[in-house]
Amino acid sequence: MVRSTSRIWLIGVSLSWLFTAGMAVGHSQLAVQPSAATPPIKDPIANAEQKARRGRHTFRFDTFGDEAFWGGTLKLHEAIEGTRFGGVGPGVSPRTALAVGLKIDVGALPADLVDQIEQGKVNLDDPAVTLALLKLNAVIGVTGEFHANGTLKSVGIQCALCHSTVDDSHPSLCAGAVTPNPGTGCVGHRLDGWANRDLNVGAIVALAPDLSAFASLLHTNQSTVRTVLRSWGPGKFDAELILDGKAFNPKQISNGVVTRTNVPGATLIPPAFGLGGVNLHTWTGWGSVPHWNAFVANLEMHGVGRFFDPRLDNAAQFPIAAAHGFGDLPHISPDDDRITSKLSDLQFYQLAIPSPQPRAGSFDPAAAKRGDDLFSGKAACNNCHVEPSWTDPGWNLHTPAEVCVDPFQADRAPDQRYRTSPIGAIFSHTKGGFFHDGRFATLGAVVDHYNTCFHLGLSGSEKHDLIQYLLSITF
Ligand code: HEC
Ligand code: HEC
Repeated sequence: MVRSTSRIWLIGVSLSWLFTAGMAVGHSQLAVQPSAATPPIKDPIANAEQKARRGRHTFRFDTFGDEAFWGGTLKLHEAIEGTRFGGVGPGVSPRTALAVGLKIDVGALPADLVDQIEQGKVNLDDPAVTLALLKLNAVIGVTGEFHANGTLKSVGIQCALCHSTVDDSHPSLCAGAVTPNPGTGCVGHRLDGWANRDLNVGAIVALAPDLSAFASLLHTNQSTVRTVLRSWGPGKFDAELILDGKAFNPKQISNGVVTRTNVPGATLIPPAFGLGGVNLHTWTGWGSVPHWNAFVANLEMHGVGRFFDPRLDNAAQFPIAAAHGFGDLPHISPDDDRITSKLSDLQFYQLAIPSPQPRAGSFDPAAAKRGDDLFSGKAACNNCHVEPSWTDPGWNLHTPAEVCVDPFQADRAPDQRYRTSPIGAIFSHTKGGFFHDGRFATLGAVVDHYNTCFHLGLSGSEKHDLIQYLLSITF
């Protein structure tokens, strides 16, 4: 592909200081791995600290080699840079990036740049600025690989893309593009583990010029793939699509009533914190944290590693996965495996993330106290959401009928059940709704649902108190 070098040169001049700064910041962030000369650690606490540090580094910055897929196969980087820099289409401006829920790490920006953005001196409609931000390693969960002339060679993604957001330290910088989940912002300090409920994964992937890899996997054409991706909406992703090809739930049913038809099969992005003491993970209880991390890093992010889960060989339930051998990914040499060696530290880090605390004034403490009594009393929520892990200690799965919802998503997982959501710090992910597909827009709707499902007979003020309690709980 011929690239327009003169234009790149112009931009290169105006942004060269940014690029240099970017390399410096990127380098210092990446240099947290202990050196090989570090003596072996004997103290378990010191060991834990090192593991958490390494795990955080993986969580934030590791692409596991997935740029070969996002850049190499889908050519997503070409859509990001746009025709002006040798890619395709208009390119992705910072305003567009923020509008699809990408977050900017203010810690990666030089202070004078933050000032300039705040004073409106940086053109947020210019894709060149997005490239500069990528070069600074400031776009959370997305890493650009650059050619020497400053154009993009490839992009890769990280866990932090979906499971991080930022605080609202610079509220003016949302550029009117998006109204973030309460307590979060567009440009701010990293909040690891938080579900990015602003992120429109489907819209981002749909930008990729070449979706033939998905089209052939799903036995359809690229335009249908784009339609499906664009159906997901913010805060959602369909991890099971590439296993079973089921893009839509024909009938969403709650308490025996069909509430919607042909609902996108995507599920809400859950937090990656609050998982200590929780047995099974994901909405439908696929497995442990390391199981799911290996699953996602290999099958969804398309990193380079090894994965084994023979449950995917069940061709009746997972026709696509079975046909492509996803249940036993290649026997590659440990030297080429960029995932397995990181799973232990990655798990460790996720379990170490402390509970976010609700802001003062975000709930009514007196009502929450009454709600606490209801939660483990009349409303019997504590039967399943057992304090303080907020899930069932033990095998934490229930049949769809037990919680009065349809089995569509449960049937897409090996145990055909829903996992009792660990609801600690649920205040941090109120955007996008509740339950796996976000079917209940508010906590009030959740409580109404249970009131009917379990015949609780809660009064209006009891429901209010229970909701205030839910808004107060941490882990
Ligand atoms: C494209 C967005 C995306 C990326 C990237 C991603 N996840 Fe997730 N993650 C999700 C979604 C959606 C779910 C829920 C999946 C389901 O239930 O089917 C999930 C589930 C999880 C869970 C289970 C949480 C719980 O409540 O039990 C953990 C843990 C997790 N992810 C960690 C990670 C880690 C670590 C990485 C990087 C290796 C990662 N995720 C990459 C979207 C993502
Ligand atoms: C029989 C076990 C059980 C009981 C009892 C129960 N829950 Fe749940 N809860 C679940 C399951 C399973 C899910 C996940 C449903 C899904 O993903 O569709 C869930 C999900 C939730 C969610 C949504 C979490 C999220 O992240 O979207 C909330 C909130 C919640 N429950 C609150 C309550 C309250 C309040 C009560 C008491 C009125 C209660 N639950 C009683 C099993 C239970």
